[in-house]
Amino acid sequence: MQLIHTKNKLRTFVREARAQGKTIGFVPTMGYLHAGHGSLIQTARKQNDVVVVSVFVNPTQFGPNEDLSAYPRDAERDLALMRTHGADVAFFPNVEEIYPAGFTTYVEVQGPMTATLCGRSRPGHFRGVATVVTKLFHMAAPDRAYFGQKDAQQVAVIQQMTRDLDFDLQIVVCPTLREPDGLAMSSRNVYLSTAERAQAPTISKALFEAEAMIQKGERTVAAVSQHIQKKLQTMPGAAIDYISIVDARTLADLETLHSTVLIAVAVKLGRTRLIDNIRVDVS
Ligand code: PAJ
Repeated sequence: MQLIHTKNKLRTFVREARAQGKTIGFVPTMGYLHAGHGSLIQTARKQNDVVVVSVFVNPTQFGPNEDLSAYPRDAERDLALMRTHGADVAFFPNVEEIYPAGFTTYVEVQGPMTATLCGRSRPGHFRGVATVVTKLFHMAAPDRAYFGQKDAQQVAVIQQMTRDLDFDLQIVVCPTLREPDGLAMSSRNVYLSTAERAQAPTISKALFEAEAMIQKGERTVAAVSQHIQKKLQTMPGAAIDYISIVDARTLADLETLHSTVLIAVAVKLGRTRLIDNIRVDVS
C-alpha cells in the first residue's frame, strides 16, 4: 500500500493505473476507521483493480460549534485497517493541500434536500461535504465511489450532485454496519460515556419497531413518527433533533407511506449527536 500526501502524486498514480486499463474504486473518509468503513473498502476491493482510500477531516463541513478540533484521529490504526482490507493507496492530504490560501469556490446542492433533516441543524454542512467530495473526485478520478447508507442524506446529496454536475462515475451505496446490539457504527461513538453507550441502541430499536409497524400495515406517517418519539423519549438525557419520514430519493415530506421511504433520526445523547436511518419498501 502506498501512502500519498499530495494531489499531484495521487493524480500521477491514478493516471498510470488508468493507462494500464485498471479501474479505480474510491472510498472517501474522515478517518478513525471502523468496520463500517472497512466494509466500504472491502466492496471497493471486490469491484475494482485499484482501491484508493482518503482520510481528511474536512473543516468546511463542521459548524463553528461542532467537534472539528476534537474529532478523533489515529492515522496508524487507520493505515493498519486499510492494509487489512486491501487498499492500494492511502491518501492523507493536509488542510493546505485541499484548501490552499485564497480558496473561494464552493459546491452547493440547493433545495429541500439540504434544508431538511441534518441540513436544518447543521447549516453549511452539506455545502462542505459536496465541495470536498467534488475536489476528491477530481483528484482520485474513480470509476466507482463508495458511500455508506448510515449517512442517508449525504448519499442523496452526493447522488444529486453527481447527476447535476455530470461526474463520470458510479456511486455505490453500502449497507449500514451495526454493533451486535444494533447501534450503527460511527467514529463518534467513542465520545459516549458508559451510561450513554448503554442507552444508544434504543435508537436503532425505535427504527426497527417502526419498520415492523409499516410491515404490519401502518400507513400513517404521524403514527409511525409518534411511536419512534415515545421510544426515544425513554432514553434519559436524550434530546431529539429530528424524526423524519421522507421519500428515500428526494427526501421530500410524505403525507402517507408509499414506495421507498427513509426513516431518519438524529438524537443528541449528552454531548454526542447520533444519527441513524432505515429504508423501508412500502408495497
Ligand atoms: P466518515 O464519517 O468518515 O464516513 C466515511 C464513509 O463511511 C461514509 O460514506 C459513511 O456513510 C460510511 N460509514 C460510516 N459509518 C458507517 C457504518 N456504520 N456502516 C457503513 N458505512 C458507514 O462521511 C464522511 O466521512 C464525510 O462526510 C466524507 C464523505 C468523507 C466527506 O468529508
